[in-house]
Amino acid sequence: MVLTAEDKANVKSAWDHIKGHEEAFGAEALCRMFDSEPVTKTYFGGKDISEESSYLHSHGKKVMCALTNAVAHIDNIEACLDKLSDTHAHELMVDPTNFPRLGHNILLVIGIHMPQLLTCAMHCSLDKFLCQVAEVLTSKYR
Ligand code: HEM
Repeated sequence: MVLTAEDKANVKSAWDHIKGHEEAFGAEALCRMFDSEPVTKTYFGGKDISEESSYLHSHGKKVMCALTNAVAHIDNIEACLDKLSDTHAHELMVDPTNFPRLGHNILLVIGIHMPQLLTCAMHCSLDKFLCQVAEVLTSKYR
């Protein structure tokens, strides 16, 4: 997935609005993923992933903050997410089909809470960015 200069500018400008909402957006995106794709819950066995749980909120924040960091290093997302790629492939062994599922729900949450932000061009750039993140996180499976 190649991000153009315009995509990168769009994603950075979107993230200026998203910063500060990481916990709420991350928790809602995870919650929506768990509800719409119940198989994704199996990776969190033993954890309280109910909507209001402190675990869900703290994990949602971690996920979104990793994306905030990727946006800050948008020219080198691969290096920035290198350790997380190892963790997801070798320790957590998350099936690669699940990354686009989370990306989809993150995009959905942004659209629900910031509809004015999600113009067609912005939708396309954020989608490409989240697809690139998914590609990087699955790159260690080969
Ligand atoms: C852990 C980010 C997708 C399952 C983590 C952590 C981060 C993260 C930052 C914490 C790592 C640490 O503490 O060292 C992301 C990002 C994703 C993504 C940016 C894609 C946008 C997924 C998906 C699943 C998943 C799709 C499964 C359906 C897990 C699990 C943990 C984890 C089970 C460990 C949680 C724990 O031990 O509390 N992820 N993740 N991740 N991730 Fe992901």
